[in-house]
Amino acid sequence: MDKKTFYITTPIYYPSGKLHIGHSYTTVAADAMARYKRLQGYDVMFLTGTDEHGQKIQRVAEEDGVTPKEYVDKIVDGIKKLWNLMKITNDKFIRTTDQEHVETVQKIFKALYDKGDIYKSEYEGLYCTPCESFWTETQLVDGKCPDCGRAVEKTREESYFFRLSKYQDRLIKLFEEDTEFVQPSSRRNEMLNNFLRPGLEDLCVSRTSFNWGVPVTFDEKHVVYVWIDALSNYITALGYLSDNDENFKKFWPADVHLVGKEIVRFHTIIWPAMLMALDLPLPKQVFGHGWLVLEGGKMSKSKGNVVDPVVLIEKYGLDAIRYFLLREVPFGADGVFSNEALITRINSDLANDLGNLVSRTTAMINKYFGGVIPETREKGEFDLELRSVLASTKTRTEEYLDKLQFSAALAEIWKSVSRTNKYIDETMPWALAKNEENKARLAEIMYNLAESIRIISILIQPFMPETPHKIWAQLAVAEEDRTWESAGQWGAYKQVSPVTSGEIIFPRIDLEKEMEALAEIEAKAKETAGAKTTKPALEKEEQTQGVALIGIEDFTRVELKVAKVLSCEKVEKSDKLLKLKLQCGTEERQVVSGIAQYYTPEEMIGKVLILAANLKPAKIRGIESQGMILAASDDESGKLVLVTVDGDIPTGSRVS
Ligand code: ME8
Ligand code: MG
Repeated sequence: MDKKTFYITTPIYYPSGKLHIGHSYTTVAADAMARYKRLQGYDVMFLTGTDEHGQKIQRVAEEDGVTPKEYVDKIVDGIKKLWNLMKITNDKFIRTTDQEHVETVQKIFKALYDKGDIYKSEYEGLYCTPCESFWTETQLVDGKCPDCGRAVEKTREESYFFRLSKYQDRLIKLFEEDTEFVQPSSRRNEMLNNFLRPGLEDLCVSRTSFNWGVPVTFDEKHVVYVWIDALSNYITALGYLSDNDENFKKFWPADVHLVGKEIVRFHTIIWPAMLMALDLPLPKQVFGHGWLVLEGGKMSKSKGNVVDPVVLIEKYGLDAIRYFLLREVPFGADGVFSNEALITRINSDLANDLGNLVSRTTAMINKYFGGVIPETREKGEFDLELRSVLASTKTRTEEYLDKLQFSAALAEIWKSVSRTNKYIDETMPWALAKNEENKARLAEIMYNLAESIRIISILIQPFMPETPHKIWAQLAVAEEDRTWESAGQWGAYKQVSPVTSGEIIFPRIDLEKEMEALAEIEAKAKETAGAKTTKPALEKEEQTQGVALIGIEDFTRVELKVAKVLSCEKVEKSDKLLKLKLQCGTEERQVVSGIAQYYTPEEMIGKVLILAANLKPAKIRGIESQGMILAASDDESGKLVLVTVDGDIPTGSRVS
């Protein structure tokens, strides 16, 4: 009999800059799901890729002085490397510049045109270039793009339109009859009430104002506008309408499209309407997950406040990052990413709970039995309870995973980690070990610990590609006792060789030190990012002795003011930072400054300084800093002195 199939997709990413940890979020989730289904014996197709056309890419490539294809090639390369680094097991990587994709999109466009579902007309709308989205007046927020908050341009051009309105009733019926089609259900209601019921307008699906796109075969000045091109990837990747459509026959319809919440609308309205127009079956589910946000707002390539997954993986290891992404926030909800939360999670769940369990167990088996658990064993108190929790963890984990509840699935597995740690406390092996008579009981306890860890190690496989192998090596778990199936069978553990007590699988991280190291990395990244974006502007200016000259208008953009220190204290747990209260005219300002190694808080009080007063407020160690005080520093000697005022002048006075 044929194996059951499972087809899962991520969105295809815009290769317009570096990917941040937010993008990894979708991909890691899809990967966990793909791994899980493979472990269950499914024939899995896991697709990811890149969405390479559009005006924005054309513009950034031009700015870079390269062709769009040259531009995307480089970035796509980096994206593929990142997925390799993160051990993403996608079965296919589609690029919308792939010849096969382009040809199939052209066929799809023509088929819809021939059918009358695409027609020619004229478009007038408000366009946000960075987001490549048209908006209506009412959708704007304060006259700006509702997605990114930037200005929109009024645009008018001849366009082809997709008859989306024609599918409104069928879509409403779909939403009403199949409550699983869009998940979580809050997003389903949002689509139904905010978009479907108020009525759908036909959709502009071609553009003439740029040419980096799939050409419309029967009207060469048009290129296919982003969504028909992008959404089609889910079927062109399977060979739809090509000579080799085996995968299409085998895997379509998709089991689940994973998408971020801002593109749920495209995937649950436009995409099914396109499929209806093509007489194709609809995907079984679209799951709209939330955003990972930084304290200040959504991460985005264009906003620049990027968190680099490569750096995080180098520092803490892949499994820790993957674990954090899927554990910290319920899939579906928004969640805040912070390094502090990451490290706290690693320390508590991984180093303390799981890591300690493994190292305590392997150390005890070595100490008490030279690494080999004896065959003569004696059952006792607490065994049954441990067993009942551990043997049923697989079923509960699967129930959550089937609903893409990654965090709940992990919480379930971690309950069994805690239960096993508790078993150690309850049975107190160290006390039993004092008496030779207890050997058989001690052996049973060691077996139960090893068996519990074996079960846990199997269940974490979808999330963590590396840790299970480390555990199996230390516990010498036989190959056949590593199957997914066997995680539900208590008592399968057999040792194939002595247990080794080796490498600590999750070392504890010193939170304080780490936060400082990370702050430095972020500051450096910001410096280079800043240098990069200002470079083109400066190159046009005159240069003297390698120093870029700026005009007075640039200088006066910085508002410098006289300020007096009212109070000053050290920032807790930091040896670099001081927190200052400043009087600046009628205003009071709080500023955090890295001068603690040069000035004591006492010395600071009463000083009259220069404040850069119109800097965006920043959070340093969770404390708001409203501006920056000026200091002079000498790199060679490492000396630093504050800039003060020569004479009596009221605070708040402008410095220019
Ligand atoms: O939207 N947290 O591409 P994209 C969570 N090309 N998810 C995030 C995120 C964050 N901070 N930032 C981005 C596109 N994402 C289109 C898709 S599909 C036919 C075309 C997610 O590179 C985002 O929600 O802007 C989206 O699901 C995905 O990354 C790709 O974003
Ligand atoms: Mg986006």
